[in-house]
Amino acid sequence: MQVYDAVRSRLTVREYKPDLVPDDVVHKLLEAGRLAPSSQNLQPWHFVVVRDGETIRRLGALATQGPFIADAPLAIAIVTDDTPRAALDAGRALQQMELVAWEEGLGACFVGIRQAEQNRAIKELLGIPDNLVLLTVLPFGYRKNMDMGARGRRNRKSLSQVAHSERFGDPYAPA
Ligand SMILES: Cc1cc2nc3c(=O)[nH]c(=O)nc-3n(C[C@H](O)[C@H](O)[C@H](O)COP(=O)(O)O)c2cc1C
Repeated sequence: MQVYDAVRSRLTVREYKPDLVPDDVVHKLLEAGRLAPSSQNLQPWHFVVVRDGETIRRLGALATQGPFIADAPLAIAIVTDDTPRAALDAGRALQQMELVAWEEGLGACFVGIRQAEQNRAIKELLGIPDNLVLLTVLPFGYRKNMDMGARGRRNRKSLSQVAHSERFGDPYAPA
């Protein structure tokens, strides 16, 4: 799959086949994250791979914004240093993971763990040190519908709403 095709077709996936994600594919996802660029090349991230069914079930129970985690065969928690730019860097790493996952036939969803109590409970469950930040838990699994990218509705602002030419406010028009 070409990068642009993956970018254009990727959708958030919240339903997964129960099939396990093979070790080499898990490794590829982690490499996709590890190789991401970061400010000053600080690489302020850790990736906690969770495949144990009971732990995944408990993650789903704790994450009120992503109970479907419980049905995924794999979850990766994205953990960062507690520094101002770490979330941006980790966002780049996890987006690379999501695109590689999409190419592999997997789907994923960024699940926000914003409530302090939930965040603390998940950090405890996964043994994440207090001084680090739990940014998200990403469930991964094979997509039930492989052509969802072709048929999915991409709900985005138009280019004319977000793109400007030369100066802010001057409309961008394709050449
Ligand atoms: C920072 C961020 C937080 C998100 N949090 C959640 C979440 O907690 N639960 C959820 O189901 N989806 C979550 N999403 C997924 C978005 O709802 C989804 O990306 C958006 O609706 C666009 O859909 P698409 O990814 O299929 O194009 C999140 C996405 C991002 C980037």
